[in-house]
Amino acid sequence: MNKHLDEARRILASNDRGGYTVPTDRLYPFQWNWDSAFVAMGFALYDVDRAYRELERLAEGQWADGMIPHIIFHQPSDTYFPGPSVWRTRHSIPTSGITQPPVFAIALRKVHEAAGSITEARTLPLYEAALKWHRWWYCARDPEGTGLVALLHPWETGSDNSPAWDIALARVPTTTETAVARKDTGHVNAEMRPRDEDYKRFIHLVDTYAACGWDPAQQWEKAPFKVAEVQTTAILLKAGEDLEHLARRLGRKDEAAEIAALNARSRKALLAQWRPALSRFVSRDLISGEDVEAPTQAGFIPLLSLDLEEEIAGALVGEMKAWSKGLKVVFPTTKPGIESFEPKRYWRGPAWAIINWLLIDGLKRNRQPDLAEELRKSTIDAIETEGFAEYFDPMTGEGCGGLGFSWTAAAYLWLMRQ
Ligand code: DGY
Repeated sequence: MNKHLDEARRILASNDRGGYTVPTDRLYPFQWNWDSAFVAMGFALYDVDRAYRELERLAEGQWADGMIPHIIFHQPSDTYFPGPSVWRTRHSIPTSGITQPPVFAIALRKVHEAAGSITEARTLPLYEAALKWHRWWYCARDPEGTGLVALLHPWETGSDNSPAWDIALARVPTTTETAVARKDTGHVNAEMRPRDEDYKRFIHLVDTYAACGWDPAQQWEKAPFKVAEVQTTAILLKAGEDLEHLARRLGRKDEAAEIAALNARSRKALLAQWRPALSRFVSRDLISGEDVEAPTQAGFIPLLSLDLEEEIAGALVGEMKAWSKGLKVVFPTTKPGIESFEPKRYWRGPAWAIINWLLIDGLKRNRQPDLAEELRKSTIDAIETEGFAEYFDPMTGEGCGGLGFSWTAAAYLWLMRQ
Protein backbone atom coordinates (compact mmCIF):
# COMPACT_ATOMS: atom_id res chain seq x y z
CA MET A 1 0.00 0.00 0.00
CA ASN A 2 1.16 3.57 -0.79
CA LYS A 3 2.85 4.92 2.39
CA HIS A 4 0.46 7.90 2.60
CA LEU A 5 -2.59 5.61 2.60
CA ASP A 6 -0.95 3.71 5.39
CA GLU A 7 -0.28 6.93 7.28
CA ALA A 8 -3.90 8.07 6.80
CA ARG A 9 -5.17 4.87 8.45
CA ARG A 10 -2.57 5.23 11.20
CA ILE A 11 -3.80 8.77 11.97
CA LEU A 12 -7.40 7.58 12.24
CA ALA A 13 -6.27 4.77 14.56
CA SER A 14 -4.22 7.08 16.75
CA ASN A 15 -7.05 9.61 17.07
CA ASP A 16 -9.46 6.86 18.17
CA ARG A 17 -10.69 7.45 21.74
CA GLY A 18 -13.01 4.44 21.97
CA GLY A 19 -15.31 4.19 18.94
CA TYR A 20 -15.08 7.88 18.13
CA THR A 21 -12.29 9.88 16.55
CA VAL A 22 -10.99 13.22 17.80
CA PRO A 23 -10.15 15.69 15.01
CA THR A 24 -6.59 15.90 16.36
CA ASP A 25 -4.88 15.42 19.71
CA ARG A 26 -5.07 18.24 22.31
CA LEU A 27 -6.39 21.06 20.04
CA TYR A 28 -9.72 19.21 19.59
CA PRO A 29 -9.90 16.47 22.26
CA PHE A 30 -13.60 15.50 21.89
CA GLN A 31 -15.96 14.22 19.20
CA TRP A 32 -16.87 16.91 16.65
CA ASN A 33 -20.00 16.48 14.59
CA TRP A 34 -19.11 17.01 10.92
CA ASP A 35 -15.53 15.84 11.47
CA SER A 36 -16.91 12.48 12.59
CA ALA A 37 -19.20 12.18 9.59
CA PHE A 38 -16.26 12.68 7.20
CA VAL A 39 -14.20 10.24 9.24
CA ALA A 40 -17.00 7.62 9.04
CA MET A 41 -16.84 7.85 5.24
CA GLY A 42 -13.10 7.24 5.43
CA PHE A 43 -13.60 4.16 7.65
CA ALA A 44 -16.35 2.91 5.31
CA LEU A 45 -13.61 2.18 2.75
CA TYR A 46 -11.92 -0.47 4.90
CA ASP A 47 -13.70 -1.04 8.24
CA VAL A 48 -17.48 -0.81 8.04
CA ASP A 49 -18.00 -1.81 11.66
CA ARG A 50 -15.81 1.08 12.84
CA ALA A 51 -17.60 3.44 10.43
CA TYR A 52 -20.97 2.56 11.99
CA ARG A 53 -19.46 2.94 15.45
CA GLU A 54 -18.33 6.50 14.67
CA LEU A 55 -21.90 7.50 13.76
CA GLU A 56 -23.39 5.57 16.69
CA ARG A 57 -21.15 7.41 19.16
CA LEU A 58 -22.13 10.73 17.57
CA ALA A 59 -25.82 9.85 17.85
CA GLU A 60 -25.29 9.28 21.61
CA GLY A 61 -25.11 13.06 21.87
CA GLN A 62 -28.46 13.68 20.16
CA TRP A 63 -30.85 15.85 22.16
CA ALA A 64 -34.49 14.97 22.78
CA ASP A 65 -35.55 17.70 20.32
CA GLY A 66 -33.47 16.07 17.56
CA MET A 67 -30.43 18.34 17.45
CA ILE A 68 -27.06 16.63 17.16
CA PRO A 69 -24.64 19.03 18.88
CA HIS A 70 -21.36 20.17 17.39
CA ILE A 71 -19.24 18.70 20.22
CA ILE A 72 -19.85 15.59 22.33
CA PHE A 73 -17.69 15.68 25.47
CA HIS A 74 -17.44 11.91 26.00
CA GLN A 75 -14.50 12.24 28.42
CA PRO A 76 -13.09 15.24 30.26
CA SER A 77 -10.05 17.10 28.92
CA ASP A 78 -8.49 20.38 30.02
CA THR A 79 -6.80 21.17 26.70
CA TYR A 80 -9.84 22.84 25.09
CA PHE A 81 -11.88 25.99 25.68
CA PRO A 82 -14.90 26.29 25.92
CA GLY A 83 -15.60 23.08 27.83
CA PRO A 84 -18.90 21.75 29.27
CA SER A 85 -19.04 24.24 32.16
CA VAL A 86 -19.24 27.12 29.68
CA TRP A 87 -21.97 25.48 27.61
CA ARG A 88 -24.22 24.69 30.59
CA THR A 89 -26.38 22.21 28.62
CA ARG A 90 -28.40 19.42 30.21
CA HIS A 91 -27.81 16.32 28.08
CA SER A 92 -26.70 13.22 30.00
CA ILE A 93 -23.41 13.07 28.08
CA PRO A 94 -22.13 16.66 28.23
CA THR A 95 -22.39 18.40 24.86
CA SER A 96 -22.16 21.86 23.37
CA GLY A 97 -25.46 23.64 22.70
CA ILE A 98 -25.14 24.42 18.99
CA THR A 99 -24.94 22.22 15.91
CA GLN A 100 -22.78 21.82 12.80
CA PRO A 101 -23.29 21.06 9.07
CA PRO A 102 -25.40 17.88 8.69
CA VAL A 103 -22.99 15.59 6.85
CA PHE A 104 -24.28 12.67 8.99
CA ALA A 105 -26.91 11.30 6.53
CA ILE A 106 -24.48 11.63 3.60
CA ALA A 107 -22.06 9.46 5.57
CA LEU A 108 -24.77 7.05 6.66
CA ARG A 109 -25.75 6.25 3.08
CA LYS A 110 -22.11 5.59 2.17
CA VAL A 111 -21.61 3.36 5.23
CA HIS A 112 -24.85 1.51 4.54
CA GLU A 113 -23.88 0.90 0.92
CA ALA A 114 -20.40 -0.26 1.91
CA ALA A 115 -21.98 -2.71 4.35
CA GLY A 116 -24.49 -4.30 2.00
CA SER A 117 -28.11 -4.97 2.86
CA ILE A 118 -27.45 -7.46 5.65
CA THR A 119 -26.80 -4.59 8.03
CA GLU A 120 -30.19 -2.93 7.80
CA ALA A 121 -30.60 -3.48 11.53
CA ARG A 122 -27.57 -1.33 12.20
CA THR A 123 -28.58 1.37 9.73
CA LEU A 124 -32.13 1.76 11.01
CA PRO A 125 -31.51 3.52 14.37
CA LEU A 126 -29.02 5.83 12.68
CA TYR A 127 -31.50 6.59 9.91
CA GLU A 128 -34.03 7.48 12.61
CA ALA A 129 -31.52 9.75 14.34
CA ALA A 130 -30.74 11.44 11.01
CA LEU A 131 -34.44 11.95 10.25
CA LYS A 132 -35.05 13.45 13.68
CA TRP A 133 -32.15 15.84 13.19
CA HIS A 134 -33.39 16.69 9.69
CA ARG A 135 -36.79 17.65 11.10
CA TRP A 136 -35.06 19.71 13.78
CA TRP A 137 -33.20 21.71 11.13
CA TYR A 138 -36.39 22.65 9.31
CA CYS A 139 -38.30 23.38 12.48
CA ALA A 140 -35.67 25.11 14.67
CA ARG A 141 -33.56 26.79 12.01
CA ASP A 142 -36.16 27.67 9.40
CA PRO A 143 -39.32 28.33 11.43
CA GLU A 144 -40.74 30.46 8.63
CA GLY A 145 -40.42 27.65 6.07
CA THR A 146 -38.22 29.51 3.58
CA GLY A 147 -36.17 26.44 2.60
CA LEU A 148 -32.88 28.04 3.72
CA VAL A 149 -31.64 27.10 7.17
CA ALA A 150 -30.06 29.70 9.42
CA LEU A 151 -27.10 29.47 11.75
CA LEU A 152 -27.08 31.30 15.04
CA HIS A 153 -23.35 31.01 15.73
CA PRO A 154 -20.37 31.08 13.32
CA TRP A 155 -19.18 27.79 14.87
CA GLU A 156 -22.36 26.16 13.53
CA THR A 157 -21.28 26.90 9.97
CA GLY A 158 -18.00 25.08 10.51
CA SER A 159 -16.28 28.10 8.88
CA ASP A 160 -15.76 29.91 12.18
CA ASN A 161 -13.94 33.12 11.23
CA SER A 162 -14.85 33.32 7.55
CA PRO A 163 -15.02 36.83 6.08
CA ALA A 164 -18.64 35.86 5.30
CA TRP A 165 -19.49 36.67 8.94
CA ASP A 166 -17.53 39.91 9.30
CA ILE A 167 -20.54 42.21 8.98
CA ALA A 168 -23.00 40.04 10.93
CA LEU A 169 -20.50 39.25 13.70
CA ALA A 170 -19.47 42.89 14.15
CA ARG A 171 -22.98 43.52 15.59
CA VAL A 172 -22.40 40.98 18.35
CA PRO A 173 -21.02 42.64 21.51
CA THR A 174 -17.58 41.67 22.80
CA THR A 175 -18.81 41.60 26.40
CA THR A 176 -18.98 38.17 28.06
CA GLU A 177 -20.17 36.74 31.37
CA THR A 178 -17.74 33.88 30.89
CA ALA A 179 -14.03 34.61 31.13
CA VAL A 180 -12.46 33.90 27.73
CA ALA A 181 -9.53 31.59 28.45
CA ARG A 182 -8.38 30.36 25.07
CA LYS A 183 -6.37 27.15 24.85
CA ASP A 184 -6.15 26.86 21.03
CA THR A 185 -3.36 29.42 20.71
CA GLY A 186 -1.27 27.32 23.12
CA HIS A 187 -1.37 24.48 20.56
CA VAL A 188 -1.23 26.34 17.24
CA ASN A 189 0.40 29.58 16.05
CA ALA A 190 -2.03 32.44 16.88
CA GLU A 191 -1.59 33.82 13.35
CA MET A 192 -3.39 30.73 12.06
CA ARG A 193 -6.37 31.06 14.41
CA PRO A 194 -9.33 33.44 14.87
CA ARG A 195 -8.54 36.71 16.64
CA ASP A 196 -9.26 37.40 20.35
CA GLU A 197 -12.04 39.78 19.37
CA ASP A 198 -13.76 36.98 17.40
CA TYR A 199 -13.54 34.74 20.46
CA LYS A 200 -15.19 37.37 22.67
CA ARG A 201 -18.11 37.56 20.24
CA PHE A 202 -18.26 33.74 19.96
CA ILE A 203 -18.53 33.48 23.74
CA HIS A 204 -21.04 36.34 23.96
CA LEU A 205 -23.28 34.22 21.72
CA VAL A 206 -22.78 31.13 23.92
CA ASP A 207 -23.71 33.16 27.03
CA THR A 208 -26.79 34.56 25.24
CA TYR A 209 -28.10 31.14 24.21
CA ALA A 210 -27.26 29.51 27.57
CA ALA A 211 -29.45 32.24 29.13
CA CYS A 212 -32.28 31.01 26.84
CA GLY A 213 -31.88 27.56 28.39
CA TRP A 214 -30.94 26.42 24.85
CA ASP A 215 -34.59 26.59 23.83
CA PRO A 216 -34.61 26.94 19.99
CA ALA A 217 -37.62 29.30 19.84
CA GLN A 218 -36.14 31.67 22.44
CA GLN A 219 -32.75 31.54 20.74
CA TRP A 220 -34.34 32.39 17.39
CA GLU A 221 -35.99 35.41 18.95
CA LYS A 222 -32.94 36.66 20.85
CA ALA A 223 -30.18 35.78 18.35
CA PRO A 224 -27.88 38.71 17.58
CA PHE A 225 -26.36 36.60 14.76
CA LYS A 226 -28.68 34.89 12.27
CA VAL A 227 -27.52 33.97 8.78
CA ALA A 228 -29.54 31.86 6.32
CA GLU A 229 -26.61 30.08 4.83
CA VAL A 230 -26.04 28.50 1.42
CA GLN A 231 -23.20 26.10 2.36
CA THR A 232 -25.16 24.50 5.20
CA THR A 233 -28.40 24.44 3.21
CA ALA A 234 -26.59 22.77 0.29
CA ILE A 235 -25.18 20.13 2.66
CA LEU A 236 -28.63 19.68 4.23
CA LEU A 237 -30.15 19.18 0.79
CA LYS A 238 -27.55 16.56 -0.17
CA ALA A 239 -28.16 14.88 3.19
CA GLY A 240 -31.89 15.08 2.42
CA GLU A 241 -31.38 13.35 -0.93
CA ASP A 242 -29.41 10.58 0.76
CA LEU A 243 -31.96 10.31 3.55
CA GLU A 244 -34.81 10.06 1.06
CA HIS A 245 -32.93 7.30 -0.74
CA LEU A 246 -32.42 5.42 2.55
CA ALA A 247 -36.09 5.90 3.50
CA ARG A 248 -37.16 4.22 0.25
CA ARG A 249 -34.62 1.42 0.76
CA LEU A 250 -35.95 0.85 4.27
CA GLY A 251 -39.56 0.82 3.10
CA ARG A 252 -40.45 4.11 4.85
CA LYS A 253 -42.65 5.52 2.09
CA ASP A 254 -44.38 8.30 4.03
CA GLU A 255 -41.11 9.51 5.45
CA ALA A 256 -39.56 9.45 1.97
CA ALA A 257 -42.38 11.70 0.74
CA GLU A 258 -41.96 14.04 3.72
CA ILE A 259 -38.22 14.35 3.09
CA ALA A 260 -38.75 14.83 -0.67
CA ALA A 261 -41.04 17.79 0.03
CA LEU A 262 -38.41 19.41 2.29
CA ASN A 263 -35.77 18.78 -0.37
CA ALA A 264 -37.91 20.47 -3.02
CA ARG A 265 -38.35 23.50 -0.77
CA SER A 266 -34.60 23.86 -0.18
CA ARG A 267 -33.76 23.25 -3.85
CA LYS A 268 -35.99 26.13 -4.91
CA ALA A 269 -34.70 28.43 -2.14
CA LEU A 270 -31.05 27.70 -2.92
CA LEU A 271 -31.54 28.40 -6.62
CA ALA A 272 -33.03 31.77 -5.71
CA GLN A 273 -29.71 32.67 -4.01
CA TRP A 274 -27.82 32.61 -7.36
CA ARG A 275 -26.38 36.01 -8.21
CA PRO A 276 -25.34 36.17 -11.90
CA ALA A 277 -23.42 39.43 -11.37
CA LEU A 278 -21.18 37.71 -8.80
CA SER A 279 -21.12 34.26 -10.46
CA ARG A 280 -21.78 32.78 -7.01
CA PHE A 281 -24.59 31.86 -4.64
CA VAL A 282 -24.99 34.13 -1.61
CA SER A 283 -26.25 33.67 1.95
CA ARG A 284 -28.68 36.10 3.59
CA ASP A 285 -28.14 38.01 6.81
CA LEU A 286 -31.55 37.68 8.47
CA ILE A 287 -30.95 40.59 10.84
CA SER A 288 -30.16 43.20 8.16
CA GLY A 289 -32.09 41.41 5.40
CA GLU A 290 -29.06 41.86 3.11
CA ASP A 291 -27.15 39.43 0.91
CA VAL A 292 -23.81 38.26 2.30
CA GLU A 293 -21.59 39.20 -0.60
CA ALA A 294 -18.16 38.40 0.88
CA PRO A 295 -16.46 36.08 -1.61
CA THR A 296 -15.90 32.74 0.12
CA GLN A 297 -16.00 29.04 -0.79
CA ALA A 298 -19.61 28.84 0.46
CA GLY A 299 -20.82 30.44 -2.78
CA PHE A 300 -19.77 27.36 -4.75
CA ILE A 301 -20.95 24.59 -2.41
CA PRO A 302 -24.50 24.46 -3.92
CA LEU A 303 -22.85 22.52 -6.77
CA LEU A 304 -23.07 19.60 -4.34
CA SER A 305 -26.85 19.31 -4.36
CA LEU A 306 -28.21 21.21 -7.37
CA ASP A 307 -28.34 20.06 -10.98
CA LEU A 308 -27.50 23.38 -12.54
CA GLU A 309 -28.23 24.71 -15.99
CA GLU A 310 -25.16 24.75 -18.18
CA GLU A 311 -24.94 28.54 -18.10
CA ILE A 312 -24.86 28.70 -14.28
CA ALA A 313 -22.44 25.79 -13.91
CA GLY A 314 -20.18 27.39 -16.54
CA ALA A 315 -20.20 30.75 -14.73
CA LEU A 316 -19.39 29.08 -11.38
CA VAL A 317 -16.52 27.15 -12.90
CA GLY A 318 -15.19 30.28 -14.63
CA GLU A 319 -15.19 32.08 -11.27
CA MET A 320 -13.53 29.17 -9.48
CA LYS A 321 -10.79 29.10 -12.12
CA ALA A 322 -10.23 32.84 -11.75
CA TRP A 323 -9.76 32.42 -7.96
CA SER A 324 -7.38 29.51 -8.50
CA LYS A 325 -4.97 31.24 -10.88
CA GLY A 326 -1.36 31.06 -9.74
CA LEU A 327 -2.10 29.25 -6.47
CA LYS A 328 0.03 26.41 -5.20
CA VAL A 329 -2.96 24.67 -3.59
CA VAL A 330 -6.64 25.09 -4.50
CA PHE A 331 -9.37 25.81 -3.49
CA PRO A 332 -9.03 28.98 -1.36
CA THR A 333 -11.76 29.65 1.20
CA THR A 334 -11.60 33.40 0.45
CA LYS A 335 -11.01 35.04 -2.92
CA PRO A 336 -7.26 35.76 -3.18
CA GLY A 337 -6.14 39.35 -3.51
CA ILE A 338 -8.91 41.02 -1.51
CA GLU A 339 -8.28 42.69 1.84
CA SER A 340 -9.88 39.99 3.98
CA PHE A 341 -7.86 37.18 2.35
CA GLU A 342 -5.37 35.80 4.89
CA PRO A 343 -3.76 32.67 3.45
CA LYS A 344 -2.77 31.14 6.80
CA ARG A 345 -5.65 32.20 9.05
CA TYR A 346 -8.11 29.31 9.45
CA TRP A 347 -11.24 30.04 7.32
CA ARG A 348 -10.00 33.32 5.84
CA GLY A 349 -8.12 31.83 2.90
CA PRO A 350 -6.58 28.39 3.50
CA ALA A 351 -7.54 25.37 1.39
CA TRP A 352 -9.25 22.54 3.29
CA ALA A 353 -9.33 18.93 2.06
CA ILE A 354 -12.96 18.38 3.12
CA ILE A 355 -14.18 21.52 1.32
CA ASN A 356 -12.39 20.26 -1.77
CA TRP A 357 -14.08 16.89 -1.31
CA LEU A 358 -17.53 18.58 -1.35
CA LEU A 359 -16.59 20.73 -4.33
CA ILE A 360 -15.21 17.75 -6.25
CA ASP A 361 -18.46 15.82 -5.74
CA GLY A 362 -20.42 18.90 -6.80
CA LEU A 363 -18.32 19.51 -9.91
CA LYS A 364 -18.74 15.90 -10.98
CA ARG A 365 -22.48 16.07 -10.44
CA ASN A 366 -22.56 19.14 -12.68
CA ARG A 367 -20.48 17.61 -15.47
CA GLN A 368 -17.20 19.45 -14.75
CA PRO A 369 -14.70 16.57 -14.57
CA ASP A 370 -11.61 18.61 -15.48
CA LEU A 371 -11.86 21.09 -12.63
CA ALA A 372 -12.87 18.24 -10.29
CA GLU A 373 -9.69 16.40 -11.22
CA GLU A 374 -7.58 19.54 -10.77
CA LEU A 375 -8.92 19.96 -7.24
CA ARG A 376 -8.40 16.28 -6.44
CA LYS A 377 -4.79 16.32 -7.61
CA SER A 378 -4.06 19.56 -5.81
CA THR A 379 -5.41 18.16 -2.52
CA ILE A 380 -3.47 14.93 -2.87
CA ASP A 381 -0.22 16.74 -3.75
CA ALA A 382 -0.61 19.12 -0.81
CA ILE A 383 -1.08 16.21 1.61
CA GLU A 384 1.72 14.11 0.16
CA THR A 385 4.11 17.07 0.36
CA GLU A 386 3.17 18.55 3.72
CA GLY A 387 1.41 15.77 5.61
CA PHE A 388 -2.11 15.51 7.06
CA ALA A 389 -2.42 19.11 8.19
CA GLU A 390 -5.71 20.70 9.20
CA TYR A 391 -5.50 23.09 6.20
CA PHE A 392 -3.03 24.47 3.66
CA ASP A 393 -1.76 27.92 2.74
CA PRO A 394 -2.94 28.19 -0.87
CA MET A 395 -0.05 30.54 -1.83
CA THR A 396 2.87 28.53 -0.44
CA GLY A 397 1.32 25.10 0.08
CA GLU A 398 2.44 25.06 3.74
CA GLY A 399 0.48 22.71 6.01
CA CYS A 400 -1.12 24.83 8.79
CA GLY A 401 -3.18 24.49 11.97
CA GLY A 402 -3.32 21.13 13.75
CA LEU A 403 -1.32 18.20 12.41
CA GLY A 404 -2.22 14.49 12.15
CA PHE A 405 -5.72 15.65 11.33
CA SER A 406 -8.49 13.05 11.05
CA TRP A 407 -10.68 14.56 8.36
CA THR A 408 -7.68 15.30 6.16
CA ALA A 409 -6.79 11.60 6.48
CA ALA A 410 -10.37 10.57 5.62
CA ALA A 411 -10.42 12.93 2.63
CA TYR A 412 -7.12 11.49 1.38
CA LEU A 413 -8.47 7.93 1.60
CA TRP A 414 -11.61 8.95 -0.24
CA LEU A 415 -9.89 11.02 -2.95
CA MET A 416 -7.32 8.29 -3.65
CA ARG A 417 -10.11 5.85 -4.27
CA GLN A 418 -11.67 7.92 -7.10
C1 DGY B 1 -12.95 25.57 17.54
O1 DGY B 1 -12.99 25.49 18.77
O2 DGY B 1 -12.02 26.04 16.90
C2 DGY B 1 -14.01 24.97 16.77
O3 DGY B 1 -13.94 25.24 15.41
C3 DGY B 1 -15.36 25.27 17.32
O4 DGY B 1 -16.10 24.18 16.94
